[in-house]
Amino acid sequence: MKNFLTELSKLDLAKKWIHEAGEFLKAHMNEPLEISEKTRFDDLVTNFDLTVQKQLVAQISKHFPADKILAEEDEDGQKVRFSKEIAHLWLIDPIDGTTNFIAQRDNFAIMLAYYEHGKGKFGLIFDVMNDNLYWCDDENAYRNETQLNVPNIDLQHSLLGVNAYMYRTNKAGLLDLSQHSLGVRVTGSAGISYTQILDGKLIAYFSNLQPWDYAAGTIISEKLGYVTRNLSGTQPSFDGREEVYTAPAKLLPEIQKYIKMT
Ligand code: IPD
Ligand code: CA
Ligand code: CA
Ligand code: CA
Repeated sequence: MKNFLTELSKLDLAKKWIHEAGEFLKAHMNEPLEISEKTRFDDLVTNFDLTVQKQLVAQISKHFPADKILAEEDEDGQKVRFSKEIAHLWLIDPIDGTTNFIAQRDNFAIMLAYYEHGKGKFGLIFDVMNDNLYWCDDENAYRNETQLNVPNIDLQHSLLGVNAYMYRTNKAGLLDLSQHSLGVRVTGSAGISYTQILDGKLIAYFSNLQPWDYAAGTIISEKLGYVTRNLSGTQPSFDGREEVYTAPAKLLPEIQKYIKMT
């Protein structure tokens, strides 16, 4: 009973912090941005990514000083490595869809995921501009206070979320697969793509992602019968960038007819 209550309060705190971070972004996002290049001209970070990450790290560290944190904007050499040995681990993506944030001031999300010994306990994706928080407890997935249901759709009547490069190069057969669907959509934010899965607007999502991009979406979508796999059909490694997809478990046989590592 004690653990159950502790976990609930952790989730409640996480919801409060992510809402506060979103409010902060909305209040300040029309101020001039400080934009820096990371690995190349289209891999960007802003002062707001850094500030939101600092705010979330400060809250977690203040309330749960023993918990470990893997946050996107930490220096590569300083990043905590995902491991089952870690009892309490948070993953933070302070702004997912930084390019959209810069170019559109829309279609971005704040994401938090929480693991105990490698098991996802809860995830949160905050679609800031629509004020929609997607989250889960041990059993169910929610958009704000509305419980989400398992969508009853099949590939032929659905859209696929894709990474543009993987789609146009037919990576692992993605373009072939898409020809058995209604078509593809590219959002430029893993978080927003996951919200579209949770709302039943996309049946699956394929992209080249880091652990903080897929962690929250994976934990939440599992509550609706979704699984996340790499292109070999196994669990993602949580170690660096990897091509992964999230799809309904019941759709795996159909997907795996086309999606194969070559
Ligand atoms: C990126 C977005 C994008 C995906 C990239 C991610 P960031 O996250 O989710 O949609 O294609 O792989 O890195 O850098 O904006 O947090
Ligand atoms: Ca980034
Ligand atoms: Ca991201
Ligand atoms: Ca980010």
